[in-house]
Amino acid sequence: MDFFVDFMNINLISYVRLASLALPLLKEGGGHIVVMSSYAGKIPTLSFSFYNAVQFAQDGFFSCLRAELKKADRNVSVTVAVLGMIGTEATKNVLKKVPGGEDMLAYAAPVDQTAQAVIRGGATRAREIYYPFYSWILSNIRRLPAFLEDYLIQDALAM
Ligand SMILES: *[C@@H]1O[C@H](CO)[C@@H](O)[C@H](O)[C@H]1NC(C)=O
Repeated sequence: MDFFVDFMNINLISYVRLASLALPLLKEGGGHIVVMSSYAGKIPTLSFSFYNAVQFAQDGFFSCLRAELKKADRNVSVTVAVLGMIGTEATKNVLKKVPGGEDMLAYAAPVDQTAQAVIRGGATRAREIYYPFYSWILSNIRRLPAFLEDYLIQDALAM
């Protein structure tokens, strides 16, 4: 539980705090909020429930904020970057430790291209961006019939 609370503090509460603190300035300048999220905020990914909980919560909080800002006619955009596997050092370190992890690195998107996609999304005031493309496909698995969703989440995509 201590780990879970720490993880929530770093990956959810700090996002909310930063956005709240920056909001007055953002309202003055027609600013952008860009949330670094994951397809794990759209579908369950086994063995990472702590991570999913944070990502779903980010999506919930910032989607509400976007709607509220729009309704209040405030010129602040909220972009949620729904990312797949990115070839960061952290990802590489994790994948080195799991069986077959080295092979999975082939699906990791380059860090610089991901950053470009995220910045482009923020600058064009997109509601969401999906990067790399399979992040969009994964994010829509829950729209499938239940048996297919179960198979994909419990077997095909499980680590
Ligand atoms: C909103 O802010 C952007 C700057 O990010 C500006 O270019 C745009 O003109 C603003 N729109 C309105 C309606 O004020």
